[in-house]
Amino acid sequence: MILLDGKIVSEQVKLNIQQKLAKYMEDGHRKPHLVAILVGNDGASLTYVNSKEKNSKAIGFDSTIYRLAENIQENELISLIKELNENQAIDGILVQSPLPKHINEKLITQTISPDKDVDGFHDINMGKLAKGDEGFVPATPLGVMMMLKAYDIPTAGKHCVVIGRSNIVGRPMSILMSNNIEFGNCTVTICHSKTQHIEHFTRQADILIVALGKPGFVKANMVKPDAVVIDVGITRIEDLNRKSGFYLKGDVDFDEVKEVASYLTPVPGGVGLMTIAALLENTFKAYKKNINA
Ligand code: GUN
Repeated sequence: MILLDGKIVSEQVKLNIQQKLAKYMEDGHRKPHLVAILVGNDGASLTYVNSKEKNSKAIGFDSTIYRLAENIQENELISLIKELNENQAIDGILVQSPLPKHINEKLITQTISPDKDVDGFHDINMGKLAKGDEGFVPATPLGVMMMLKAYDIPTAGKHCVVIGRSNIVGRPMSILMSNNIEFGNCTVTICHSKTQHIEHFTRQADILIVALGKPGFVKANMVKPDAVVIDVGITRIEDLNRKSGFYLKGDVDFDEVKEVASYLTPVPGGVGLMTIAALLENTFKAYKKNINA
C-alpha cells in the first residue's frame, strides 16, 4: 500500500503558489487577500479558519478573519459580505459553515460574488462545474483531484464510487470524477445513507472516495483488492488522555483497509491538508483575475 501523503503534496502545491506569487510581487502587485468569516464559537470551525489564515500568511497572502457573534442578524452578515464584494483589494471570501439556524445558509452562499467565491459553493460555480466549464471548484474535491494528479493515478475508464452526496464534498466530487478532464473520465456511482447493500457497490470501486462522516465505516471486506481509497472524513473523537481532549478519525478503518488498498489517505495528514492547499490555489486564481495578470 502506498500512502497518499497530504503533507508532502500540500507543501508542493503551496511552494508552487509561493514561487509564482514572487514574480507578481517583483512586478509591484499587491498581495492576494483571503477573508474568512466565522459566526459563533464552534471549536472545529475555529480550528479550520485559523488554519486557513495561518497557511495563507505562510505563503505570503494577506488574510483576515471576521469573528461574528452567534446571535448576529442575517442582514448584518449580508451587509458585511456586500462590502467585501465591493472591496477591490479582497480576492477571496468564505463563510465557514455550519452557520447558526437563524441564518439562511443558502442566501449567504448566493450573496458572495461568484468571482470571489473561493469555496465554489455559489450556484453559478456549481453550475459551471456541472457543465464542465471553468469556475471555482469546492476546495475538498479540488484537493482530492490534486492528490490523484500528484501520484499520477490513472482514472479514465475506471469505476469511481463516491459515498456521500453533500454539496461541499460528495456531489461536486462525483461530478468532477465523471467530467471529461485530466484525472476524471470515470464511470461514477454515488452511494448515500439510503443506499441498500452499500458493500455491493463499494466492492466494485477501482477508486473509492468516502465522505459520509461516520468514523471507521469502511472495512476491509468492503474494498476491492488494490483499490485506491480516499478518506475525506474527519471526526473528532473524545479522548480525555490527550491535551486537546480529542483525536481525529476518518471514515475508513485505516488498519484494516491498508492491507487491501493499493493507495490510501491517512487521517489526519491526508485530504484535510489538501483542502487548505486547494483553497489557496482558488484564492490565487481569483487574485490573478483581479489584477488582470
Ligand atoms: N465547513 C466544512 N467544510 C467547509 C468548507 O470547505 N468551507 C466552508 N466555508 N465551510 C466548511
